[in-house]
Amino acid sequence: MADKNERKIRVWDLPVRLFHWTLVVLMVISYFTGRAGGEWMKFHFWSGYAIITLVLFRIAWGFVGSTTARFTDFVKGPAAAIGHLRDLLGRGRPREAGHNPVGGAMVVALLLAVLLQTAAGLFAADTDMGTVNGPLALLVADKWVERATAFHKFWINVLLWMVALHVLAAIVYLVWKKQNLIGAMITGRKPLDDVVPPGAPAPKLVFAPGRLAVSLLLAAAAIVYFIVRAGG
Ligand code: HEM
Repeated sequence: MADKNERKIRVWDLPVRLFHWTLVVLMVISYFTGRAGGEWMKFHFWSGYAIITLVLFRIAWGFVGSTTARFTDFVKGPAAAIGHLRDLLGRGRPREAGHNPVGGAMVVALLLAVLLQTAAGLFAADTDMGTVNGPLALLVADKWVERATAFHKFWINVLLWMVALHVLAAIVYLVWKKQNLIGAMITGRKPLDDVVPPGAPAPKLVFAPGRLAVSLLLAAAAIVYFIVRAGG
């Protein structure tokens, strides 16, 4: 029989994992199609719409989804964050089923930063690329289009730095604490020893039904469809 500490438990549901890795792929597509311009902008737009859909879905899932997906599970105050950093930087072993208090803050920041980037894209326009208009650019005054465009071009750099920090944190866990958070985000499972102290019982996590996730995703897609259509 496997040692108790090697026992793995399910911590991430499928919607969170699919959300994460699809978001990563779409961010890469958006980045390179945006840089390429021209004919590629069609894909840039579609990828952007898909990203907004995903983020809207994830926000809703943060209220009604599985235990570890919920904002109430990982949005904690500064005291919890400092306590966690002490564990991380010292000899302590941070243990968490879902996001730790610092990671949780980063998750909220990443979701908002991605949403801001895509929202600005809806109003952006680029004359360098032969006037490619975001779907809502014609609804607002030129000065707002210029601001949205400048913001969209600037904010991607902020986003890239945030992602770099995010990936670095996952690597620090892997190398320093020997905790594989990346593997957990792929398989959905963590060793029990990474979740609770030895001897403690496994936490009771509730997993929301997949059909709820599908309904929310469709609702998010419908919202994005109507937003994009609003531009005519
Ligand atoms: C465009 C790039 C990325 C973005 C925007 C992004 C964003 C996010 C978000 C929003 C979450 C929270 C997931 C949720 O609760 O639904 C998350 C979690 C996570 N991401 Fe990423 N991510 C990116 C790239 C990556 C990459 C390349 C890796 C791995 C090398 C990675 C590793 C992780 C891990 C391990 C977690 C879970 C952290 C934890 O256990 O608390 N991410 N990411």
